[in-house]
Amino acid sequence: MSPHVFRTPAHHGGASARGIKPAILVAAALAVVLLFWHRQARYEGGSGLALSAPAAPQPANPPVNLTLAHHLLAMTNLSAVTTAALLDAAGAGLSSADTRALVQLHQTLYCSARLNVPDPPGSARAPFSNSTMFVYDKGDIVSDHLQGLAHSWEGQEIKEMLAAMRTPVPQTPADMSRPKSWRAPASPFVIDVGANVGWFTVNAAAAGGIVAAFEAMSNNVRLVRATLCANPWIAERVALYGTGLGTNRTDCHILSGTTNRGDGHTLCGQDPEQAAREWTKNTGHSYEVRGSISLMRMDKVIDNDVQVIKIDVEGYEMNVLRGAEELFKTRNVWFIMAECNVAILSEEGKKEYLRFLDSMGYYISGQSFEGPFLDVADITSGKDIKLPGMNLYCVKKTLRDANTMAKGRRLLTSGSAAGKAA
Ligand SMILES: *[C@@H]1O[C@H](CO)[C@@H](O)[C@H](O)[C@H]1NC(C)=O
Ligand SMILES: *[C@@H]1O[C@H](CO)[C@@H](O)[C@H](O)[C@H]1NC(C)=O
Ligand SMILES: *[C@@H]1O[C@H](CO)[C@@H](O)[C@H](O)[C@H]1NC(C)=O
Ligand SMILES: *[C@@H]1O[C@H](CO)[C@@H](O)[C@H](O)[C@H]1NC(C)=O
Repeated sequence: MSPHVFRTPAHHGGASARGIKPAILVAAALAVVLLFWHRQARYEGGSGLALSAPAAPQPANPPVNLTLAHHLLAMTNLSAVTTAALLDAAGAGLSSADTRALVQLHQTLYCSARLNVPDPPGSARAPFSNSTMFVYDKGDIVSDHLQGLAHSWEGQEIKEMLAAMRTPVPQTPADMSRPKSWRAPASPFVIDVGANVGWFTVNAAAAGGIVAAFEAMSNNVRLVRATLCANPWIAERVALYGTGLGTNRTDCHILSGTTNRGDGHTLCGQDPEQAAREWTKNTGHSYEVRGSISLMRMDKVIDNDVQVIKIDVEGYEMNVLRGAEELFKTRNVWFIMAECNVAILSEEGKKEYLRFLDSMGYYISGQSFEGPFLDVADITSGKDIKLPGMNLYCVKKTLRDANTMAKGRRLLTSGSAAGKAA
C-alpha cells in the first residue's frame, strides 16, 4: 500500500475521500494490534509495555511482530483522520480509561519505533524545563516566543492554569459544604483543547498534572509527539488525542495563517479553499488549508472529574463545550479557561457562548479565576458585555458559592506551598 494516501489532503487541494478509506482500514488494523497489546499488558499485570523485555506470551496469543507493527504505526503516524478512525474502531467497547491507555500506547510505540528521529522537518528545539521541546523553526508566533529570550508564551494564562490546578476542591459531595476539608488533588486532571505545539500540556504535566491533550492538526501533533518522546517523564502523564473536538463525530477541514501556522481554525460544511481565500481577503493575513481533520465529542472520551479545561480553538470553543455537556452534568469540572475571540465569534456568538457557560453552572470572568465575575443577570438578559481581553475564566458556581459562604476568602491558593506539597 502506498504511504502517499496518508498524506494530508492539503497537498491535493482539498479532502480526498479516496485517501481516507484505506487510512481507516489501516487504523482499524492498528487498533486491533494495540488492543491486543493493551489486553496482554493488563493480563501480565504491567502498568505499561515492556517492549525490550516482553513477558512470556500467553499460549492462546501469538506474539506480535514488532517490525510489522512499527510499519503499521508509521502509516498512521500523524493523520488525525486515522487517529480518530482508530478511536472509532477501538472505542466501540472501550471505557474512557482504556481509550486513554490506547492513546498512550500509540505514543509509546511511536517513540519506540523512533518515528521522532530525525527531528521533525521544519522544527526547532526550544528549551523546556531540564530538557527540550519541539516547535516550528519559523512562521509561527508561539514558536517564535518559545525560542526567543523569554522562552515563554501566554505567561498570565499559564499562571492561572497552575493556580487552578493546585486549588483545593471537594473530594466527595458531603465535603461540598465544608471547604476546610477540601484538598488540592495530588495529580489534577487537566484537559488541553487545541494543544498547538504543546506549551500548556507540558507545563501542566511538569507541574504534576495528568493531561488529556487534543490537537487536530497533524503538523502540531508531530511536534508534540517528538516533545513527548524527548521527555518520558512528561509523556507518562500525557495522552495526546490526535483529533479535534466538536458536537459530534464528523470530518472537517482546518486552516491556519502563514505567520501563525500552529493556530488551526476548524471549518465544517464549507469549501475550505474558498474559505481560505475569503479569510485572506477579510483579515489581510494569508491563510492556507492544512488538511482534513476529525472531530469527536469530549464527553465520549473523558469520564472523570476535571480540575481545569483550557480551550483555544480559534472560535470553535462553543462546539467543543457543547460536545462536553454530559461531562459537565455528570462530573465535576471545576475550572474552564477558554478563548472568546469576538472578532471571530460576532457579538451574537459571544452572547450565546456566555449564556451556555452560565447555564452549565459557571461564573465567568474576563480577567482571572478570582474574578471580577460578570453579572449573571446581564448574561441571561443578553446585555452587551465588554470583555477586557480574549479569555474567559470560568469557576463552577457551587465551588465558589460554598467557599464564599464559609469564609469569603480567596478561592485560589496564591502561594506555591500547596502545589509543592502535591
Ligand atoms: C517480522 O516481520 C518481518 C517482516 O515481514 C520479518 O522479516 C521478520 O522475520 C519477522 N520477525 C519475526 C520475529 O517473526
Ligand atoms: C509518517 O508516515 C509516512 C508514511 O509512512 C512517512 O512518509 C513520514 O515520514 C512519517 N512521518 C514521521 C514524522 O514519522
Ligand atoms: C528532568 O526532570 C524530571 C523531573 O524532575 C526528571 O524525572 C527527569 O529525569 C529529568 N530529565 C533529565 C534529562 O535530567
Ligand atoms: C455535527 O457537527 C457538524 C460540524 O460542526 C455540524 O455541521 C453538524 O450540524 C453536526 N451534526 C449534528 C447532528 O449535530
